[in-house]
This record gives sequence, C-alpha cells and structure tokens, in this order.
Amino acid sequence: MDLSIIVPTFNEGPNVDELLRRIGVALDGRSFEVIFVDDSTDDTPEIVAAAAAASAFPVRLIHRDDPVSGLGGAVVAGFHAAQARWCLVMDGDLQHPPEDIPRLLTRAAAGDVDVVIASRYAAGGNSKGLANATRTNVSRASTLLTKAMFPRKLAGCSDPMTGFFLIDRDAVDTATLRPRGFKILLEILARRQMRTAEVPFEFAPRHAGRSKASLRQGIRFLTQLTMLRFGRMSAFALVGGAGAVVNLLILGVLTSWGLGYIAAAIIASEVTIVGNFLLLEYLVFADMREESGRMRTRFAKSFAFNNAEALIRIPVMSVLVEGGHLPVVLAAALTLIAAFVVRFVFHAIVVYGP
Ligand code: GDD
Ligand code: MN
Repeated sequence: MDLSIIVPTFNEGPNVDELLRRIGVALDGRSFEVIFVDDSTDDTPEIVAAAAAASAFPVRLIHRDDPVSGLGGAVVAGFHAAQARWCLVMDGDLQHPPEDIPRLLTRAAAGDVDVVIASRYAAGGNSKGLANATRTNVSRASTLLTKAMFPRKLAGCSDPMTGFFLIDRDAVDTATLRPRGFKILLEILARRQMRTAEVPFEFAPRHAGRSKASLRQGIRFLTQLTMLRFGRMSAFALVGGAGAVVNLLILGVLTSWGLGYIAAAIIASEVTIVGNFLLLEYLVFADMREESGRMRTRFAKSFAFNNAEALIRIPVMSVLVEGGHLPVVLAAALTLIAAFVVRFVFHAIVVYGP
C-alpha cells in the first residue's frame, strides 16, 4: 500500500460515490486505500459501506461519534488507522479535486519534504469555491493572522488552513496533537518544524450538501490559535478578562436601574462565574472534558472555588494592607494575580483533571 487517502465526513452521503469515482480515475494503476472517518448523523455510513462493497480498490469506514474533536480529530484517527506511511487528507465534498492528487504525489516523490500542501493562495491556485465574499475575507484575514503568529514555522506556507495535503505520517507526533475544530494542518505545522512544499490548486464549489463551517468553528479556531501560540493559560486569561468586562457591564446596568451596588455586584459576579464556566467547558478545557467525570461535578467545583476565592481575597488583601503596609492598589494587584494563578491550577488539575 503506497497511499492512504483520509476523508473526514459529516453528512456527505450524496458526495461519496462521485468522490470515489473520481479518485479511482485519477489514481488508476496505483496502490492506495480510502478511509472515511465519519461522524455523520444521517445515512452516510450506509452509503459508504455500500460503495466499499462495490469498489475496485479498498475503501474503509471508521464511524465515530465525537463532536468534540470534530474534523481535526477525525484526521488524527485516520492517521492511526492508515496502512500506508504517506497519507493524503482531503474533504469529502469534492472541493478538493481528486485530479490534483498525482501532482502532490509527484512533489513528495522528490523525497525532501514531510508534507506537501495544496494551496489556494499559491500562485496558480484560487479560492473561488468559497461560498461567498464573507468566507473569502474571513479566510484571508485568518490566514494573515496565523502567519503573523507563527512567522518561522509557517514561512513558505501560503495556506496553513487548507484541508488538502499529503503528509508523511511518521513525521507527525500524533501524541502531542490536541485536535479540536477544523484546522488540523495548522496544528501539525505549529507543533513541530516540518519540511513543507506547496502545490497550487483551485478550490472548487461544493458538489452537494452544505458546509459545516460556522461561527462556532470560528471561535474554536481562535481559541486553538491562542492555545497553540501562548498556551492554555493565556486562553484561560483571555476568558477571565472577558468575564471581568462582562461583570462590570452588568454591574453598570443594574446600578443604573437603581439596584444597590452590593446586590448588583453579587448578581454580576454570579452571572460571570457561570458564564466563565461555560467558556472554560466549551473552549479552554474542551479537550479535557471527557476524562474528567460529570459536568455537574465540574460545575460544582468551579462554582464553589470561585465564590470561596471572591470571599477570601478581600480579607487577604486587608492583611496585606494593614499588616504588610502595602499600598491598596499593589495589594489588590497581588491578590488578583495570585487568585488568577491558583484559579488556573485548580481548574486544570482539580476541575478538569482525570
Ligand atoms: N468526521 C468529521 N467530523 N468530518 C467533518 C466534521 C466533523 O465533525 N465537520 C466537517 N467535516 C468534514 C465535512 O464532511 C467535509 O468533508 C470536510 O470535513 C470539510 O467540511 P466542510 O463543511 O466542507 O467545510 P468547509 O468547506 O467550509 O471547510 C473546508 O475549507 C476550509 C478552508 O476554507 C475544509 O477543507 C477546511 O479544512 C478548510 O480549512
Ligand atoms: Mn467544503
């Protein structure tokens, strides 16, 4: 087996037969397998199974039900299952034309790279298949931002967000990947310096069905980017910072409605604590949720901690001011920093620990 083609699918039934037909024509005479890594909620698995039974080349189906790791996790599962060392990753909706695969193989055959990236933004490629102007702008802007954040690792890579690439599985340290959301190639490139080459391609319109890209995927992407670049603690800090702003806004609104400031502060804090928990749950610690028991328990721990922390911080501050003779602002800053670090450690180890 020379090549494993990994196709992540989520409700792509109407595209399966056409994809396999075009792959078969494009790779006629070569030895390869196609692995569908599927999280569908419709009849895609049955369609793949029927196509596999009728296919002249090996077609395999891995059906999972894993909304957390999503597209990225599906690709990693494909790496684990692949028979061949070289894996081609492509979408199941024919936006990545199978006819381009031989050009990627030819480039890899030169033997000097770990990954060949099919790029929409290299000279000769294009992204016309993006559904609309908004998607095109979002794609361009996020590509710029990403390249700015990883100037060295992404040097020479014009399209780190592409989902179409040929990779030497042995060059990927799958154990270090924390796949979430859509951008698995970016994560691979950001974690380890890879030897890359690019081949331009034309991103085609979708064959059938609709895109699973969403605002939610966009937010996940930004979290992923922050975590990859600055670590989990920064994503945690960002969420905490956003919480502080919301806290102040609620406080302002409630007091302007005539509520006493103590009551307003309590309501604002409790709302913020709950909101923070949800953001930690779905963004910062999403990859650690599964091994850490029940959501109810995690919430109880987080809620108790944050309330206790708020109650303890004030007396500690007064000790620093009265006993330690520190200026109030310095004492407040010290307790806030200490509280932040303790809160992070508590959440990473106690709330989201195994
Ligand atoms: N297994 C699995 N699980 N597959 C998924 C999931 C999931 O949760 N979500 C989406 N997919 C599959 C889709 O079925 C499709 O085959 C492929 O991943 C890409 O999803 P689309 O819904 O077609 O997204 P897109 O066209 O907007 O995104 C593509 O273009 C982006 C660049 O603009 C993908 O190639 C992205 O990787 C790429 O970044
Ligand atoms: Mn698509």
